[in-house]
Order: sequence, then structure tokens, then C-alpha cells
Amino acid sequence: MAFPHTRMRRMRRTGALRGLVRETELSAGRLVAPMFVTEAPVSSSGREPIETMPGVARLSVSAAVEEARRIADLGLGGVMLFGVPAHTDADGSGAWDEDGAVQLAVGAIKRSTPDLVVMTDVCLCGYTEHGHCGVLRSDGSVDNDATIELLARVACSHARAGADLVAPSDMMDGRVGAIRTELDAEGHTEVGILAYSAKFASAFYGPFRDAANSAPAFGDRRAYQLDPANGREAVREAMLDVDEGADMVMVKPALAYGDLIAAIKRSTGLPVAAYNVSGEYAMVKAAAAAGYLDEREAALEILTGLHRAGADIVISYHAADAARWLAE
Ligand code: PBG
Repeated sequence: MAFPHTRMRRMRRTGALRGLVRETELSAGRLVAPMFVTEAPVSSSGREPIETMPGVARLSVSAAVEEARRIADLGLGGVMLFGVPAHTDADGSGAWDEDGAVQLAVGAIKRSTPDLVVMTDVCLCGYTEHGHCGVLRSDGSVDNDATIELLARVACSHARAGADLVAPSDMMDGRVGAIRTELDAEGHTEVGILAYSAKFASAFYGPFRDAANSAPAFGDRRAYQLDPANGREAVREAMLDVDEGADMVMVKPALAYGDLIAAIKRSTGLPVAAYNVSGEYAMVKAAAAAGYLDEREAALEILTGLHRAGADIVISYHAADAARWLAE
């Protein structure tokens, strides 16, 4: 008998057959949309476009509430809020201001769309005048233990405002434990922690730093974020966050880190989020604008691939578009 007996192409013959054997199903409910909320005056529309992230804008609190309603109507899994303060200082004190944009937006969104899951990024980099993710020692290095106390304060201010999950993105050691302890001490036992566990010192955060004015004024983040060359260390970070009480763990960026999405899912057993970051979004946007590829096809392929790698949740600037495309 002639070879081959096994013909993999049999099940790819028609769309119906392909649908029958599809292993990964993308759904809006697993996608989370990042949102930038600003204290700085914006135009009357409440939207301030971000040049390096076409289609994404900094929003006033009321524009954020409207956007959250659209996101809820699309059936997305949630929003992740980032604050853009009007003022910065050495300690990033605006990050725990009860009247900060994030705190106000969380409260207003939860009142307007109570069922939408609201997550908040917990970090100091957008709020410090030097742009580092914590407070500095006199030698310019970030003081880990002093920083985690402030991060716990930030997390509690978000919890008081009504956040469902707080997401520390600073990469200080021990911050998940410090945040859990303070949340519990204040009675926020039901507020969860999504830890940015495997967060790499990446070139792909460029557009975000533009959006959030959070680029470091000197140096870089390599003394606290992970080296992109290190996978075992990333798994260890995630395991430590599990011990400290994380409810979910994250891998960030996403595209070059599929191995770690899979490995961290296996070793932690926790829900895993992948953050398809600003530079990854901007790459697709720029290539599509130049006519080099089809945005919709590329974005859906990326989101599907991240789910296939093991991400339960994908945080993406394409989330709302993807939900619309999936509904068509
Ligand atoms: C803050 C933070 C960053 C991102 C999320 N939280 C930037 C950074 O670490 O410099 C990046 C998100 C993105 O690029 O979309 N620490």
C-alpha cells in the first residue's frame, strides 16, 4: 500500500472540519483591556490620543467610565487601569492619593458597571519624578524594602476605591506578601492579587512609557526587572509569588515568552495572564498601516497563540477590537 496512510490534511479540508478539531477558542471573556486614566486636563472629548499607540488614548475619569461601559457591553473579561498623574514627586505619593485618577475611576466604573472586573496596576514609576518603580537610595538604586511599604499603601487605596484585583508591576522582592498583609489588615480579604511575576526588562514597553510618562529619567530597570535570557529565574519568581499569596500570575511581555507562559502555568497551577504589551501592539499597528500585514488576522493569531501557550487571560490593547471581530 502506498504511503502515507496518515493524512493530517483530512481534518483541514473544510471550515466545518477545522472548527470541529480546533483546540483553542478565543473568547472575549478571557481578554482584558488596559486603560490609561489621566488627571491632566484633556480636550473636551476627554480623550487624548497616544501617538505611539494608534487607537489608544489617555482618558478623563468620565471618558473612562464610558469606555468601561463599551467594554462591558462587548463582553470583555475586565479592564486594567493605569494612572497618569498631573504631578510627580520623589516618593510617588500621588499613587495612593484617594482623589487620584485611578481611585476615582475605579469607584465610578464599579458604580456604573458593577459586574465588570476592575484591575489596577500598582507601581510608582508613573508617579515618581525620576520614573523608577520605587523610592531611591542616595546612590540612585531602588530601595526594595521601603518601596514595598508604599506599594502596599497604593494597593489599599485601590481596594478602598473598589478594585477587584490589584496588580503589582514593580518587580520588588516581597511585594506580593506585603500587599496581601496590608490588604487583609484593612479588611480587604476579598480583593485579589494578580502578580506581574515574570516581568522582563523589555524594549517592548516603549510606547507605554510614552503613554504614562513613566520612562526612567536615568538608567534602566535591569536591576529589578528580569533578564530576557532567564527562564528558570522567571519560574522561581512566579513560585515565590504563589507562596506570598498571589491569586493569579502574569508573564510580560508575551510574544517572545510563550515558553514561560507554558512553564509557569505548569509549575504554579494558578490562572496565568499574558500581557501583550504596548510595543507588541504598536508593531502590529505600524506594520498594518504600512500595508505589510493584515491587522485583524495578525492580532487574532497573536491572541490565539497566547491562549494556546497556556494563558487563561490575555491583557491586550487589541482586546476591544478582538471582541468586535469575534462577534462578527
Ligand atoms: C509599570 C508598568 C509598565 C508596563 C505596565 N506596568 C512599564 C514598565 O515597566 O516600564 C508596560 C505595559 C506595556 O508596555 O503595555 N511598571
